[in-house]
Amino acid sequence: MTARLIDGAKTAQRIRQEIAEQIRANKLSPGLAVVLVGENPASQVYVRNKGKAAEETGMHSLNHRLPETTTQAQLLGVIDELNHDTSVHGILVQLPLPPQIDAQAIIAAIDPAKDVDGFHPVNAGKLSLGLPCFVPCTPQGCMILLRETLSDLAGKKALVLGRSNIVGKPMAQLLLQADCTVTVAHSKTRDLPAECRAADILVAAIGRPHFVKGDWVKPGAVVIDVGINRIPNPADPAKTELVGDVDFAEAAPHARAMTPVPGGVGPMTIACLLGNTLKAAKKSL
Ligand code: GUN
Repeated sequence: MTARLIDGAKTAQRIRQEIAEQIRANKLSPGLAVVLVGENPASQVYVRNKGKAAEETGMHSLNHRLPETTTQAQLLGVIDELNHDTSVHGILVQLPLPPQIDAQAIIAAIDPAKDVDGFHPVNAGKLSLGLPCFVPCTPQGCMILLRETLSDLAGKKALVLGRSNIVGKPMAQLLLQADCTVTVAHSKTRDLPAECRAADILVAAIGRPHFVKGDWVKPGAVVIDVGINRIPNPADPAKTELVGDVDFAEAAPHARAMTPVPGGVGPMTIACLLGNTLKAAKKSL
């Protein structure tokens, strides 16, 4: 067996076209505010890509770049302004934030109706209750790819590797809602390879390059790799390359289908962010 590639870039492109079409047809003007504090190079790339993608679908994007030394009070002031700005429908504060800022306090200050990341406690709580809410973009994107790949998720054993608020926890909630039998594994889990080997669906979101080995993958499993790790290029250490949390070459002979890195989950995160922003704009009418 060699895994079929799950083409997240293609699906994301289709979703972005549908969003652009809805914006045009309904003469909407969704606004996305993207806030970046500091100079984290990876965050700078993500934020630029999010703003660019918003503009490409016909949204307007506002970029707030704040210095590394920004205080919590200053950032709360920016959030308050954006909450009251009627041209802004979605607010995204790129994480991580510098250590002097309490990220949870910032997330809690965002109007839940503009929380297109789905990180606010109101949205996280609604997700866990199965109520309509803004669903975090990366797990939402993973679910779209899983539904495209598998005709029925009910009863499947799903293993989520990682328990972050951004991916692992909401991912587990969504899989549970899809009637999967869900295990959440993490750094303290005993016999991780055995837990992984039992899974029909393996979602790796642990942030460690090539962490999941080939023989951890159950034959015929569907593998969703959320990791985006920059490592030195083995062929030319002066250069870097992006790799996932799964050792792709090792896992591919075992899996039925796998997302590549790049071109798998990453583009879906942005497409779902745009989808959430469109939803916020429609609800504000
Ligand atoms: N940092 C890593 N992923 C994300 C995300 O999806 N949203 C925000 N705001 N920050 C992130």
